[in-house]
Amino acid sequence: MRRAPEPDERLLFQEAAALAPSAYAPYSGFAVGAVVVGPSGHRHHGVNVENASYPAGLCAERAALAAMVACGERELRHVAVAAAHGQDCLPCGLCLQALAEFGDPAIVARQGGEVIVVRLSDLLTAPFAGGDGADEAGR
Ligand code: THU
Repeated sequence: MRRAPEPDERLLFQEAAALAPSAYAPYSGFAVGAVVVGPSGHRHHGVNVENASYPAGLCAERAALAAMVACGERELRHVAVAAAHGQDCLPCGLCLQALAEFGDPAIVARQGGEVIVVRLSDLLTAPFAGGDGADEAGR
């Protein structure tokens, strides 16, 4: 289910951690950076962007996902997510659902103080895929 990161995955995690200080998180104080990678190998960046109206806030993973889609990529291979100050952070349930729309990427994140790699489908075993009439991907 989970494994240690390969050297390139550790670099991806460090890149996500380097983004975290750019987050806009004045309400929670929990700054997060994310990097997503599709088939091209291009690394798309995101940070969390909070709002005075709390539910309007955006997680780093979905910000990075939007950047990837805007570049024309629609398949996720890797997602790295890192909070500032070495804090543990796995993608929230909402982000797992959003990411599952675009595949079953390897997720690189810190848990229990260690950087680990885990499949999205291990964290979210049954994503919503639409009602009757939806195709396999729910579109
Ligand atoms: N957050 C992320 O950006 N990604 C995660 O994986 C977990 C949580 C953000 C949302 C909110 O701005 C702050 O961290 C505290 O929950």
